[in-house]
Order: sequence, then C-alpha cells, then structure tokens
Amino acid sequence: MDGIVIAVRPALITDVEEIVQVHDCAWRSAYRGIIPGRELERMVSRRGHNWWRSAILRGSGLLVFEFAGAVAGYVSFGRNRTRTPPFTGEVFELYVSPSHQGLGFGTLLFDAARRKLAAHGHPSVLVWVLADNGPAMEFYQARGGDVICEARESFGGENLKRLAFGFCKP
Ligand SMILES: CC(C)(COP(=O)(O)OP(=O)(O)OC[C@H]1O[C@@H](n2cnc3c(N)ncnc32)[C@H](O)[C@@H]1OP(=O)(O)O)[C@@H](O)C(=O)NCCC(=O)NCCS
Repeated sequence: MDGIVIAVRPALITDVEEIVQVHDCAWRSAYRGIIPGRELERMVSRRGHNWWRSAILRGSGLLVFEFAGAVAGYVSFGRNRTRTPPFTGEVFELYVSPSHQGLGFGTLLFDAARRKLAAHGHPSVLVWVLADNGPAMEFYQARGGDVICEARESFGGENLKRLAFGFCKP
C-alpha cells in the first residue's frame, strides 16, 4: 500500500498555481480582522502567478511543503533586510494552509529554512510578526524565539505593531 508522501523541497515553476492558492487562503485566514479588508485584498492580489514565477526563476530562498502531492505550505527566506546584528538571516514568510495547520508542518518548514540559512553562513535569524497575530506569536515563542525589537507599520490606515523574534542557533 502506498503511504502519503510528505516532503519539504525547493519550489519549482510547476508549483506556482498551488503556492498562489496557499498564499491566498493562509493570508486571508491569518489577517482577517487584523488588516483592514480592502488593504488585505490588495496585498493578496499583488501576489499573483507572475510574482511567484519570477521569485522562483530568480532563485530566491523558497521551500514548499508537499502533502499527498499538493503544496500545503511555503517558507521564504534570505539575508536580513534590516541591520539587527547578529541576525544576518531572515525568514520572510511562513504560511501553512489553514486545513494543515497545527500538525507540525510549520515547524518542519521553519527548521528547514533555518538549516538552509545556516548552510549559507546565517546561523542567526529573525522573523517579523504582527503582534495581533496570536497563533504566529505563540508559534515563534514555542520555537524558542526572543522578541528583539519592535516597529509599527500602517496597513490601510491601521497602525499595527510588528515584533521581531530572534533565533540564535538552528
Ligand atoms: C504560524 C504557522 C506557520 C505555524 O505552522 P503550523 O503548522 O500551524 O504549526 P506547528 O503545528 O508546526 O506548531 C504548532 C505550534 O504553534 C502554536 N500554535 C498556537 N496556536 C496555534 C494554532 N491556532 N494553530 C497552530 N499552531 C498554533 C503552538 O504553540 C504549537 O506549538 P507546540 O508544537 O509547542 O504545541 C501556521 O499556523 C500559519 O501558517 N499561520 C497563518 C500564517 C501566519 O501567521 N504565518 C506567520 C507569519 S510570519
């Protein structure tokens, strides 16, 4: 009998359609009630097929989580965009589709991204989270992250607090 295949692997051009879908539903479910509706729609629609296709073609750090033949999550990562030593690496985005959350897959993706970053000389990483995103805050706290700085950003007129979690060793 064949088992269900679970894999974390680099994103391929053939994944674009499924990444768009994961992005769309994970963002809507995570940020509804936090980011004003019209702004959230704008943010989701900006990330169409072309955006993801060019990210993959550029060779950006992008891993997908595949469950039973379909993409059910992704993580993007690279050099830290802000100057916050010693955190030279950054996890930009980590999203698991709502139907697959709470099963350990976010941890698989996060750990895989951290291993990739460490292999490229970035053992210390940070990740920015909206303070109102309770499940994500709990997730990064449970993974051992410490809040190292905070900032505020305006989303469609709503001024929201963002926190950066730092992780020192993979
Ligand atoms: C945050 C997210 C990536 C975590 O991935 P996941 O696969 O659900 O998480 P895991 O199953 O690996 O780990 C669950 C951990 O998260 C925490 N958690 C808290 N609330 C949770 C919830 N509603 N659902 C899932 N996990 C939750 C738990 O502390 C749990 O820790 P434990 O393993 O020590 O019990 C995922 O829930 C997600 O994509 N959320 C929406 C998008 C988002 O907020 N992304 C992060 C922004 S950078």
